[in-house]
Amino acid sequence: VKGGYETFMDKEIHDQPTAVADTLLGRVNDRGELVLDEMRIDPSVLRSVDKIIVVACGTAAYAGHVAKYAIEHWCRIPVEIELAHEFRYRDPIVSEKTLTVAISQSGETMDTIQAIRHAREQGSRVLAIVNTYGSTIAREADAVLYTHAGPEVAVASTKAFLAQITACYLLGLYLAQLRGNKWPDEVADYLENLGQMPAKLERLLAEQEDMVRELGAQMADQTSFLFLGRHVGYPVALEGALKLKEVAYVHAEGFAAGELKHGPIALVEEGLPVFVIVPTPRRPVLHDKVISNIQEVRARGARTIVIAEEGDEAVTPFADTVIRIPATPTLMWPLLTVVPLQIFAAALAKAKGLDVDQPRNLAKSVTVE
Ligand code: F6R
Repeated sequence: VKGGYETFMDKEIHDQPTAVADTLLGRVNDRGELVLDEMRIDPSVLRSVDKIIVVACGTAAYAGHVAKYAIEHWCRIPVEIELAHEFRYRDPIVSEKTLTVAISQSGETMDTIQAIRHAREQGSRVLAIVNTYGSTIAREADAVLYTHAGPEVAVASTKAFLAQITACYLLGLYLAQLRGNKWPDEVADYLENLGQMPAKLERLLAEQEDMVRELGAQMADQTSFLFLGRHVGYPVALEGALKLKEVAYVHAEGFAAGELKHGPIALVEEGLPVFVIVPTPRRPVLHDKVISNIQEVRARGARTIVIAEEGDEAVTPFADTVIRIPATPTLMWPLLTVVPLQIFAAALAKAKGLDVDQPRNLAKSVTVE
């Protein structure tokens, strides 16, 4: 069942190239246009949407956070991310022009189910991005965009997360195509880049996995970690910290790198491991800001583990370890950069002798509020 791997989490990390490929499958026609057959919300409704609210929990909410950057850029529609349990118990501003997007692997998360009911009561259409066929969320939504990650067994989400992000890109590009925000060739260009992701993921696993595993095993005695990122690197930092907390029971926090000097930098002391996700040098303004952040933590004694694009030599003088990632457009960077963080968390947990598939206190689907 584990396909020759020691744990389901390892297997599912390796399933990721396929999960992304399967989620993309059959969604582009021979004219290079995106077709979402399952999009049962009328195009005229989608054209009039003036706000998107993503409701989700945990890792699925981080996928929504990535979607915000992509959809706002491509479609010029404001996107809000709402933790489903917070959305449900306040008085959110929702109308018939709001599209609520619920993201869930299981489709059975009670907090998210309650949030979509709350949104529908106020006239919003609900689109579900779900991995489990026929689940409650899939049934209650107006339309479903299925992720095709296959069943996810390990409690900590890995391949479902990549598939969720992929589906969010498809949604964003579909809305851009429908609303005419982007020239068709720009949508086609992004689709082509998405199509290259499975091969890039394969290469990343082949080239970096052993080194990252060794690093995880070496760091099994550490009691605290920080993760920093800007732009789409920010939700990746949050997800990297969550994986480590969940499977290795170690204190880990993710921050927007720009937030460092507003408080968290006080935590940095000699030897503290800090992961930094560096954007491509093809976005020099963003890139150089993150390089400064690495310098700031290193000057205070941090041990820096830097995730950077292949060929980005600017990071080398400030990194204790560099994890190299194939070049890709910035908005799609999360699909690659999160993978070493998953591998690291699994390796560190294993070195501590923990059961990575069944972490203590957690359930695969949280069916109570
Ligand atoms: C993290 C994790 C959880 C889930 C969250 C939502 O590894 O698995 O944070 O992402 O409980 O679950 P779903 O996606 O099933 O709604």
